[in-house]
Amino acid sequence: MPPSELSPLEWRGDCLRLLDQTRLPHAEVWRDVRAADEAAAAIREMRVRGAPAIGVTTAYGMALAARGAAALPAPVFAAAMQRAAETLGAARPTAVNLRWAIERATAELAHGRAPREAAEALLDLAHRLREEDVATNRAIGANGAALLAGVSSLLTHCNTGSLATAGFGTALGVVRAAWRAGERFEVFFTETRPWLQGARLTAWELARDEIPARLIVDSAAALLMQRGAVDAIVVGADRIAANGDVVNKIGSYALAIAAERHGVPFYVAAPVSTIDPRSPNGASVVIEERPEEEVTRLACAPIAPEGTAAWNPAFDITPADLVTAIVTEQGIVHAPYAESLPHAAEPAYAR
Ligand code: MRU
Repeated sequence: MPPSELSPLEWRGDCLRLLDQTRLPHAEVWRDVRAADEAAAAIREMRVRGAPAIGVTTAYGMALAARGAAALPAPVFAAAMQRAAETLGAARPTAVNLRWAIERATAELAHGRAPREAAEALLDLAHRLREEDVATNRAIGANGAALLAGVSSLLTHCNTGSLATAGFGTALGVVRAAWRAGERFEVFFTETRPWLQGARLTAWELARDEIPARLIVDSAAALLMQRGAVDAIVVGADRIAANGDVVNKIGSYALAIAAERHGVPFYVAAPVSTIDPRSPNGASVVIEERPEEEVTRLACAPIAPEGTAAWNPAFDITPADLVTAIVTEQGIVHAPYAESLPHAAEPAYAR
């Protein structure tokens, strides 16, 4: 199956099946998720990752909790759903799509339905969000492809493809759409320490798409730009604050600084659901800090002396003034973002 058609999550009638991204590219292992706490664990342990995929998995997690409690009396059912929302909500703090999915599910529960009907409604919601995400990503791709007209090389970071979403991808979807539209370029992509989403996952997707691509270590990006070898950068986002600050994979900010220095446009591709009017700026967003061992070890093998301390933030904040444009399914948004985002992303502001 071409990666553009791939979805890392599918409903199997009684459980959610996830493509385990910790095992890629060496093994394609699918894992069944049967309860909300299993969905939360899959998110926390990075078996499913990427903001939109986390959002859709959360919606299925809420649906699974509801199915598991559907035979219980309404007050017990409500308590079980509250617990599920808390467990899923605590899985990872930064991607706003997780909170967004919980709020969409909670809104369904507010209709006062009997538990069995509520469980059906939550499963329908999860299916809907999954389908909407793919359509949204295809629209982001179509909108963003125009920005890549005439580029001969571009740079992307982390993995923002089909694997990071319900399908097609955001930033990698833009790359994919531009390639399909006939643009011809080479993609440089970072390895993305410490989880290596670039080296493992973006490499896997680009190879399957047969798009010419080269892997670089994260710290080679500035030299590449200094040599004039990057015409554009396209990244995704885990949360976009109301002022246009972009919270994305650690290393994005460094790329944006180097891009400004070398006159390279820095584009962000994300669905409207990633825009968070309740975060006034990047500084107000909780940046996830992950275990030290993810830095001091590589594929479980120690690379630093025993006892070395490490700091492992998973995301950083790119200030809005370094962002050339934000591509959403609704169109392309430019600065000043505090004014343009509410118009461009009306559904997010109506929440
Ligand atoms: O830690 P991850 O792999 O979940 O981080 C993923 C990213 O930072 C992506 O750029 C972002 O979620 C957008 S994915 C379409």
